[in-house]
Amino acid sequence: MSISSRPIGVFDSGIGGLSVLKHLLLSLPNERFVYLGDTARVPYGNKSAETVRTYARQCAAFLLRHDVRAIVVACNTVSAVALDVLRDECPVPVIGVIEPAAREAVAATRNSHIGVIGTRATISSNSYTKAITRLASERAVMVHAQPCPLFVPLVEEGWLESPVTRLVADEYLRPLVANGIDTLVLGCTHYPLLTPMLSSMLPDVALIDCGACTTAETAKILGIQMESTSMQAAASRTLFYVTDASPNFSLLARQFLGIVVNDPVTVDIDQMRTSS
Ligand code: DGL
Repeated sequence: MSISSRPIGVFDSGIGGLSVLKHLLLSLPNERFVYLGDTARVPYGNKSAETVRTYARQCAAFLLRHDVRAIVVACNTVSAVALDVLRDECPVPVIGVIEPAAREAVAATRNSHIGVIGTRATISSNSYTKAITRLASERAVMVHAQPCPLFVPLVEEGWLESPVTRLVADEYLRPLVANGIDTLVLGCTHYPLLTPMLSSMLPDVALIDCGACTTAETAKILGIQMESTSMQAAASRTLFYVTDASPNFSLLARQFLGIVVNDPVTVDIDQMRTSS
């Protein structure tokens, strides 16, 4: 099999990574993808870095057995705490979401006040702050970081614009607004679904979606031309795997991707543990 006919592996702690896969499918129409959602062990965002690293290694090993030519870590939490480990251990390029989103945020800010929201694990790793500070180079950029753990269950409940979600968002975002941010990194795979609500609450703030910038980074690293296409044939270009056959997958997949996807294949998690 020639290199370009090998698929690109994508994994996330669950279904959130579909918000990244959507951009990959829309902009790389000639690629095939293998998507793994670790739905049996989601959420990763409240777990220790050590546990997330163990899970991440097992997910990467699973994708490598599918002869993928690159791995896109479509999860902010894994990108924040396990990217270095995966890069050291994997024989193919491993692309995380943090660096591309941080670069886009540095380019977008005008007043040098950038907000970052994510899971507890992502925020306490300081990965975004470190990446933004490094990429801003000489420029003094202030990063205002805020964990927003309640957003994940609210999105999975489909409460994308409910008054409850607005109330929670108001509470989380108040300190960022008080600090005068003009740019906000949506540092969790679920948050792009909250974009309509967040942009109505923060009309003057640029929202950074890591899916779009990570797709551009993937294309650059693999030397692929980006093109735009529709989601029409997207489902047939992706094999979906999950570690738990939750009946919610298809429903949430439709919400994240906007299309009906084939039923995912369930992976035996014990086999993943022992064969990594
Ligand atoms: N996919 C995770 C992230 O982007 C959110 C869900 C979780 O906590 O596992 O950080």
